[in-house]
Amino acid sequence: MAKTKTVFVCQQCGYQSPKWQGRCPGCDQWNSLEETSLTVSAGSRASSVKAKVLTFAQIKNQEKTRVRSNINELDRVLGGGVVPGSVVLLAGEPGIGKSTLLLQLSDSFANKSVCYVCGEESPEQIKIRANRLRVKGDKLKLISAVDVDEIIATLADFGEGSFVVVDSIQTLTTQDLTGAAGSIGQVRETASRLINFAKRHNMSMFLVGHVTKSGAIAGPKVLEHAVDTVIYFEGDQYSQLRLLRSVKNRFGATGEVGVFMMTSSGLEPVGNPSKLFLSANQQPIAGVVKTVLLKGTRPLILEVQSLVTQTNMAYPRRLAKGMSRNKLELHAAVLQKHLKMPLYNQDVILNVAGGIKSEEPAIDLASCLAIWSSYNNKAIDPGVVVFGEIGLLGEIRSTSQEERRIEEAQRLGYQKIISSQNAANLLEAIKIVSRD
Ligand code: TYD
Ligand code: MG
Repeated sequence: MAKTKTVFVCQQCGYQSPKWQGRCPGCDQWNSLEETSLTVSAGSRASSVKAKVLTFAQIKNQEKTRVRSNINELDRVLGGGVVPGSVVLLAGEPGIGKSTLLLQLSDSFANKSVCYVCGEESPEQIKIRANRLRVKGDKLKLISAVDVDEIIATLADFGEGSFVVVDSIQTLTTQDLTGAAGSIGQVRETASRLINFAKRHNMSMFLVGHVTKSGAIAGPKVLEHAVDTVIYFEGDQYSQLRLLRSVKNRFGATGEVGVFMMTSSGLEPVGNPSKLFLSANQQPIAGVVKTVLLKGTRPLILEVQSLVTQTNMAYPRRLAKGMSRNKLELHAAVLQKHLKMPLYNQDVILNVAGGIKSEEPAIDLASCLAIWSSYNNKAIDPGVVVFGEIGLLGEIRSTSQEERRIEEAQRLGYQKIISSQNAANLLEAIKIVSRD
């Protein structure tokens, strides 16, 4: 006999408690526990149905049946296309372009049975967006509903192998639970029902999940373990650049990155992103150095800029955009100690151009040289690319995948590349850049 029990679940971290508490013992958040009902079965039961036993030989090789879309950048992130019967979670901040991407993807599967569940927007709004994206969508079927059981019953009429988009998981509810749409219990339960359904009917499913800047709202985090692939859509609100990043992939490598531009007619894949991040101005200017960073397996050439100005404040400012401030403080300390640069009365500002964020150690050398260049007002040749980790002794240490980075720089015509392979420390690197 199944009986209903209620527990209090933290909407922030998922902690469960049998009684209400003002503060969650799991994450110390105040007022985040909400009552949720659970159905538990009393005691174990003997089942007359047996589970199926399989050998590898009896299992279909899904790898061969991957479906490629015409959006290369998305296929790359998924590991070469959509695996039939897989469930992908597309997470990102509101307004980043998740619905746009999935509508474009639906269009590229137009010859299949495609179903778009719109819990968030009305079908009219989707139509306006489709017109804007020049998506014909002749065969696209829309379901405008928020009750997950109703949606599943409707999806059952679509054949095996259909492609389903659920936008978004935070709007769905099941009447079996009391919580509001978007609460942790509802998100977990509705997603698990959809995932089970997709697996049983071999449907490929994309679930949209919103995250806020602090990741505070229940959603993507609690679903990550349940889905096959998790991709995050990221970008700067003020730039058109969007990065699609896989953080979990049961069918491919993680860390892979797809690059898009948000334009007035939708998302456009960027095939050669290195070109995108370089300024058109190729005149030597003091304070800018090029570096090559890895985004997934893909090397990207970027500019690191620095501005060093004198200050009369007791505490000089250290401002970094695209890199952590701690790293900048460390670089300033290394330069002060090993190059005798008096930065104690200088404000140091650093920016990784193009809205890219990186904590990669390979950025260290570019950061140090940009600061050196700005402080000394000496421009570094725009044809130079540098990368390498800087140790506390001012030494340049090797980084991962050096060959790949060098290849990318050479491919784009950079002849002078400074790394741990040709400079042992900062002094030697500076000697190379100031040689001509
Ligand atoms: P949307 O896909 O609705 O974001 P999400 O589903 O992640 O919340 O995209 C919203 C933003 O994208 C919106 O602010 C406008 C912009 N946009 C464009 O710049 N060009 C376009 O063609 C479209 C459809 C949207
Ligand atoms: Mg949306």
